[in-house]
Amino acid sequence: MTVVAVDGPVGSGKSTVARRAAARLGYVYLDTGAMYRAVGLVATQAGLRLDDEEAVVALARSARLRFDSAGRVFAEGRDVSDAIRTLEMGAAASRVSVLPGVRRLLVEEQRRLAGDTDIVMEGRDIGTNVFPEAAVKVYLTARPEVRAARRAAELREKGDEVDDAQVLAALLERDRRDSTRAVAPLRKAADAVELDTSGMTLDEVLEAVVGIALARVGP
Ligand code: DC
Repeated sequence: MTVVAVDGPVGSGKSTVARRAAARLGYVYLDTGAMYRAVGLVATQAGLRLDDEEAVVALARSARLRFDSAGRVFAEGRDVSDAIRTLEMGAAASRVSVLPGVRRLLVEEQRRLAGDTDIVMEGRDIGTNVFPEAAVKVYLTARPEVRAARRAAELREKGDEVDDAQVLAALLERDRRDSTRAVAPLRKAADAVELDTSGMTLDEVLEAVVGIALARVGP
């Protein structure tokens, strides 16, 4: 089993690059952010307070999160793949992700889903906490303005009306919460390769990540 851990903040290019790197390497791909988003979504829809740990954990347990091979995400039997991709659900995910009980549950599930397959796993704490022994660790960053512009473009592409200042403010708030929480905060693992993607195209980032992985584990 080979784990490629791709961590980093919002808009660092993680998702696109991790998905395409997995396809290139012939590995399974897992977006762990989608799991926190799905929990944030079901908790919001159930009208729970997002800091009510006991209630959110109970709901997360019963939500039956599922991923199919096409990358769709299901909760309570419903396809929530599109519903989780909003600015609001990014914030809700970040809020439920500070709850230790939610993290315990999802980390256990992430390790189970990885099983003994070769996998590219993307998130905030994969190299530091979920798989500290991962063979390959990449930490992607970019300047906040660049990350906000990328995220705003993604949201507009799917028809959301957002302005850059609003996206930047939401992103800085999420960076702050994700990197200061008590359990498994966002940070670069000591042995991760850090890439600042600010001036790079996604193709360039992809080539760099695939190159790092192949150099570590061979073709
Ligand atoms: O990668 P993303 O934007 O979909 O992640 C949404 C939120 O989920 C993120 O702000 C923090 C949380 N998250 C986490 O705490 N740990 C992970 N491994 C992945 C995401």
